[in-house]
Amino acid sequence: MAFQCRNMTPHVILFICIFLWDVQISLGQELNSIEHNHTMRITLHHQKPAWEQQMNSPLYKYGITAYNLHGKGGNRTNDSVVLYRFLDTEFYGKIVIGHPGQPMNVAFDTTWIYTWVMSSECNVHDPNATGCLGHNLYNHRKSSEYKPYNKKFNSGTLTGDYGFENISIAHSNVANFTFIEMKTVPDSFIFNKADGIMGLGLKANEYEPFFYTLVRQGKIKDQVFSIYINRNRQSYRQKGGELQLGFYDKKHIKVDYINGKKIMDEILYLPAGGTSYWQFKMDKVVMVFNPKKTEEYCQKGCNAIIDSSSSIITGPTKAINQINANIEAREIVLQNEKRFVVDCDTVNGLPKMEFHFQNKVFTFSGPKYIIKVSNKTVVLCMSAFQYGESTEKDETWTLGATFLAEVYTIYDVARKRIGLVRVA
Ligand SMILES: *[C@@H]1O[C@H](CO)[C@@H](O)[C@H](O)[C@H]1NC(C)=O
Ligand SMILES: *[C@@H]1O[C@H](CO)[C@@H](O)[C@H](O)[C@H]1NC(C)=O
Ligand SMILES: *[C@@H]1O[C@H](CO)[C@@H](O)[C@H](O)[C@H]1NC(C)=O
Ligand SMILES: *[C@@H]1O[C@H](CO)[C@@H](O)[C@H](O)[C@H]1NC(C)=O
Ligand SMILES: *[C@@H]1O[C@H](CO)[C@@H](O)[C@H](O)[C@H]1NC(C)=O
Ligand SMILES: *[C@@H]1O[C@H](CO)[C@@H](O)[C@H](O)[C@H]1NC(C)=O
Ligand SMILES: *[C@@H]1O[C@H](CO)[C@@H](O)[C@H](O)[C@H]1NC(C)=O
Repeated sequence: MAFQCRNMTPHVILFICIFLWDVQISLGQELNSIEHNHTMRITLHHQKPAWEQQMNSPLYKYGITAYNLHGKGGNRTNDSVVLYRFLDTEFYGKIVIGHPGQPMNVAFDTTWIYTWVMSSECNVHDPNATGCLGHNLYNHRKSSEYKPYNKKFNSGTLTGDYGFENISIAHSNVANFTFIEMKTVPDSFIFNKADGIMGLGLKANEYEPFFYTLVRQGKIKDQVFSIYINRNRQSYRQKGGELQLGFYDKKHIKVDYINGKKIMDEILYLPAGGTSYWQFKMDKVVMVFNPKKTEEYCQKGCNAIIDSSSSIITGPTKAINQINANIEAREIVLQNEKRFVVDCDTVNGLPKMEFHFQNKVFTFSGPKYIIKVSNKTVVLCMSAFQYGESTEKDETWTLGATFLAEVYTIYDVARKRIGLVRVA
């Protein structure tokens, strides 16, 4: 949760930020070939978090083949981005910044409002800036469109300068966008493919997040975006999902056939926000051992936050401990972080987990909440349920990619509500 990276100790940052989820926006040729009737599909490539990269090496890196600085979108009212899966649990995307365009990889993060890229002034020899190592660095001196903004950004470990730039994403160009050039970046970013973050959170202060600028400049008509994650994790190059700007796509909604009739799953809209987060009410979480034996968490209702930058699901310590004890997960330490792993042979027989929202229940079987990671010699079956920052008193769960792989999410920015529907 990059947004919460402010005011945190480096230790916490490491825990949170290694799970950055990167979205790859494939610009130019690749994109045009999959364009349908004035919608754009941004390509997301998966990227692995740090612990997983250590497990799976060498890391395969995609190059940028083409991009389109002057978006030939005509009069678009929506935009969408095809997501290709890169490795297993993370996505990164491409934007082009400045003129001539400098391609950068960014992670789309629903828990963060700012957009930032690593600066060429980020000095990797500075212990506070080692996160820039091995990344694309943006150089404002090489851009004719860059305009300075005499304002500093400081969230503790991330520090930099605000500026204005033209940014090209998929088929759209955004002019004079307020972004941050980051000059110190914590080392947790070393293993991340993202050279920066694009915040998809709700506007919370005078800063105008990217999506709002897209709307204000008329690149997007409807103030809605949606995130679809492809559940099939088999292949690196596969479509990993889509980020749709300005609409949601019915084809990603689950259809049931009841008595031969096609019934599309109904979208449940819940009020969201109150903060910059896509936060909403969850009624309960239930572990179902069998029809007669269940265990409930978040019994009196609690808060849920969608976190597209994370692959896991977090909750209060007590609930997480109970869930992991019930599935006989044991604790291991990966990169100084506590993780829970189960015996891979047990995954298919694990109890189901249910997430309840009003009249809607999303059910996850064992294979859906266990994250398999491997290198050539070791396979780890990690529980998606991990410790978060929330206490029992202020009960908040964060729902990352594990959740998004089963639930197609629709972010209605204008009405401040989130749509949840079973994914096709
Ligand atoms: C695009 O629109 C045309 C007509 O406007 C229609 O014939 C065609 O099927 C559409 N294609 C897609 C992929 O939606
Ligand atoms: C596109 O927008 C411009 C200005 O808003 C308008 O003049 C033009 O007619 C539009 N083109 C189409 C094809 O709608
Ligand atoms: C996307 O934009 C195109 C052209 O502006 C429009 O025809 C189409 O209906 C839009 N699609 C959705 C899903 O809003
Ligand atoms: C690194 O950051 C710490 C605290 O954020 C600060 O006190 C220290 O001066 C920084 N070091 C350098 C070399 O900038
Ligand atoms: C940057 O945006 C401005 C304002 O729309 C535009 O005039 C300029 O042509 C853009 N620059 C490039 C290189 O596209
Ligand atoms: C860029 O945006 C800033 C803040 O919104 C504004 O003050 C400035 O005038 C804009 N510059 C141009 C060239 O549009
Ligand atoms: C796989 O990971 C294990 C545990 O971290 C490590 O001991 C082993 O050397 C790794 N094997 C390869 C081929 O990287």
